[in-house]
Order: sequence, then C-alpha cells, then structure tokens
Amino acid sequence: MRRVIQKLGVLNKLGQNLYYDLIISRRWNGFEGVETPVRDGLHQTQSVDYTLLSESLPLNLIENAETIVDVGSGRGRVLGFLAWKYPQKRFFGYELNAAVLEESKVLLCPRFKNVSLELIDILTRSLPHADLFILFNPFDVHCAEKFFALLRSLPGATAVYINFPQSHDSLLLDLHTDTDFDVELIQHSNDWKDIRDKRTLIVSVKKDSVA
Ligand SMILES: C[S@@+](CC[C@H](N)C(=O)[O-])C[C@H]1O[C@@H](n2cnc3c(N)ncnc32)[C@H](O)[C@@H]1O
Repeated sequence: MRRVIQKLGVLNKLGQNLYYDLIISRRWNGFEGVETPVRDGLHQTQSVDYTLLSESLPLNLIENAETIVDVGSGRGRVLGFLAWKYPQKRFFGYELNAAVLEESKVLLCPRFKNVSLELIDILTRSLPHADLFILFNPFDVHCAEKFFALLRSLPGATAVYINFPQSHDSLLLDLHTDTDFDVELIQHSNDWKDIRDKRTLIVSVKKDSVA
C-alpha cells in the first residue's frame, strides 16, 4: 500500500511539473543536473520541483515586493512560474553557468518581458538593490554565509531560501543570534521520501540595521 502511495506521489509530481512547464515555457525542462565547474561550493543546476515551489514559496512576500531576484536562476523554473503568476512585477535572474543561462533565455525571454537574465556570480560583487531574493539551494554553507554577509548591506531586504539544507544549520544558529536579522524557519509536511531538507528559511534584514 505504501509503495502504491509513493508511486502515485511520483506520478503526481511528474504530472504537475510537465503541466507547468508546458503552460509556462512550452517545453519540459526536467530535473537532470548539470555541473557548474566554476569553483568549489556551488551546487549543480537542478530544475526546481514546482510541487515543492508552490508549497514552500511564501506568496505574500512576493506580493509585497516590487523587485525580485532569483539567485542561481538555472533553467528558469522559479522565474517562469513567478513571471507567469505576477506579470506586473519585475524579476531578475542571476546565474553563473553560461550554458544554462542561455537555455533559460530561450525558454523565458520571448514570452516574459518582465524577466531579465544576467551572467553574474552573485558572491563576487555587492548585491543589487532588490526587495526579495529567492534562493533554491544554490550553494554550500560557506557560500551561503557569504551571501548573508552581503545581504546585511540592504536594510529591509528579505531572502527566501527554499529547500534549506540541514548541512546549513550552523549558519541558521548564527543568523538567529544576529541582531541585524529577523529569521523564520518553516518545516513543510513531507510525505515523499525523495525530497530531503524540505524547509524554507526566511531572513529579513531589519530596517534599522546599520548597513
Ligand atoms: C539548484 S539550481 C537553481 C534552480 C533554479 N532557480 C530553477 O528555477 O529551477 C542552483 C543554481 O545556482 C547557480 N549558482 C550557484 N552559485 C551561484 C552564484 N554564486 N551566482 C550565480 N549563480 C549561482 C548554479 O549554477 C545553479 O544553476
């Protein structure tokens, strides 16, 4: 019985991903990973699972933000989903894998005029001004530490880290004790054994923090 339920879960996941890919980008972009051999600590490009996205993305934060950045935009599922759902908002995707970025441009740019995509290593410069940053587990804990150190310079900005890994829990502790940040960790229900770390971390830089 359990196996049957698991199989149905997998089929449901595949079906929903296919459905959203077809209505958003008219092409199935799958889940397979592509290495980004730029430097250590970066995770491979893996298209976000829409079922996880719709469950873990706090839509109220998107609704209250004007400028939204996807950190490590990959093949563009997060951006496509949001640009389709919120045509009046501005979305930016920063990605350091040139080949993957080109794929996402082909998929998104002809259809969504509210999406801009750029080849950028987000950790090597100051962060662009944005109300909201979305991270779908793009890198290891050391890179994540760097990211939150950069975020500190933007009072009022918020980062949503989807699929926040347990390997980052030392960082979570630091963020919790840091008086410049408000931190919330949401644990989602997890029926499917193939999805690990099904948690969303929301970190906001306090408006009165000294940048
Ligand atoms: C798991 S994928 C993200 C999935 C994607 N957001 C989507 O909508 O399907 C993580 C991506 O982060 C990118 N990445 C990792 N470190 C980065 C950095 N410092 N700057 C920009 N992109 C980065 C990787 O190349 C990879 O494509």
